[in-house]
Amino acid sequence: MEQAKSKRIVLGITGGIAAYKAAELARLLVKQGIEVQVAMTEAATHFITPATMQALTGHPVLIDQWQDDKGMSHIHASRAADAIVIAPATADFMAKLATGLADDLLSTLCLARDCPLLVAPAMNKQMWSNAATQRNMQRLQADGVTLLGPASGMQACGEEGMGRMLEAETLAQEILTTLQADVTTTSKRLSGKRILITAGPTYEAIDAVRGITNRSSGKMGYAIAQAAVEIGAQVILISGPVSLRPPVGAQVVKVTSAAEMFEAVKSEIVQADIFISVAAVADYRVAQASEQKIKKSDAALTLELVPNPDILAYVGALPNAPFCVGFAAESEKLREHATEKRKNKNIPLLAANLAQNAIGSDDNELVLFDDAGEHLLPRANKLTLARALLQHTAALYLKEK
Ligand code: C5P
Repeated sequence: MEQAKSKRIVLGITGGIAAYKAAELARLLVKQGIEVQVAMTEAATHFITPATMQALTGHPVLIDQWQDDKGMSHIHASRAADAIVIAPATADFMAKLATGLADDLLSTLCLARDCPLLVAPAMNKQMWSNAATQRNMQRLQADGVTLLGPASGMQACGEEGMGRMLEAETLAQEILTTLQADVTTTSKRLSGKRILITAGPTYEAIDAVRGITNRSSGKMGYAIAQAAVEIGAQVILISGPVSLRPPVGAQVVKVTSAAEMFEAVKSEIVQADIFISVAAVADYRVAQASEQKIKKSDAALTLELVPNPDILAYVGALPNAPFCVGFAAESEKLREHATEKRKNKNIPLLAANLAQNAIGSDDNELVLFDDAGEHLLPRANKLTLARALLQHTAALYLKEK
């Protein structure tokens, strides 16, 4: 873990069994030189004692809204913080945050903040998948709150499923990245800009039931759309077939084939300021797709494949091209292929990754190629990478303007 100096966070603990992990989280953050002020809900004190948290952080724990003279501890603690982290966040506390309730010290502190808020949900899988919790989660994301997890796995109640809090080590890494990156400042200057993003695979029909596609999950493109919504951009997400929930606030155009994606891009591109081409567009389609299902036989079957249009190269060659960001998934010789692609497609910025590291995974590592050379975005989850990529894009885009 890298060192983050002189940063202060408020660590909010709410009442769930995962509260015990907050002790390890506090320890890891303090070890990194971060000043940690713990604030607990009353319910949290039934799972872990304030004395433990005070001993680990060196600061008395805030619990009661009225414990200081003027009832102003929420304003003071909130103003002093570089970030507020709620770990664990119960379903109940997420509901409070989503509706803007402030009926105890911790919720008041969150409402009074002017710094990033990171929330690590922890709950039973049924509570997590409940429509109300899912709605609250989407509301929070649309409000610019960062969700860390949850993960899937064995739960305290003995069931297995989605809702486990991320491990302390992972949370600490995410918090450090947020504190170090200071992502918001430059990126926020893209607020109001129109960002067009393609994501996911395309599907090229062979016949009525069969087709050619690839293993893109769409996670990277959707994470970029999420990060772009967070900074206040107008986001148009043109998505191939994926099973992901699009970010609230993005305008979504669903397509299937490369030809459909191309049409959708052509009709949206005129007004775009930035084009981020993340989709894994199929390079070929079947020359003559059959309307009916092709009957199986013992004879060999030959399909004629014809190349699909290169959407990014088309946009890059437009007379008034928006600022273009391309992606390259390679299985080897990353630098060589990425440099060549950036040149061929005539684009200022290209994010390259190794396909074997990226496909379907929640984490990735990117190398950015631009006129100044190459920049490594170290392994992190795709939302963290998306924010860093937007930060880099914003800096280059604003320099060009
Ligand atoms: O040439 P290659 O497919 O590796 O280039 C990848 C980049 O080009 C990605 O940004 C991808 O979205 C874009 N692309 C495209 N249309 C294609 C093929 C790739 O826009 N037909």
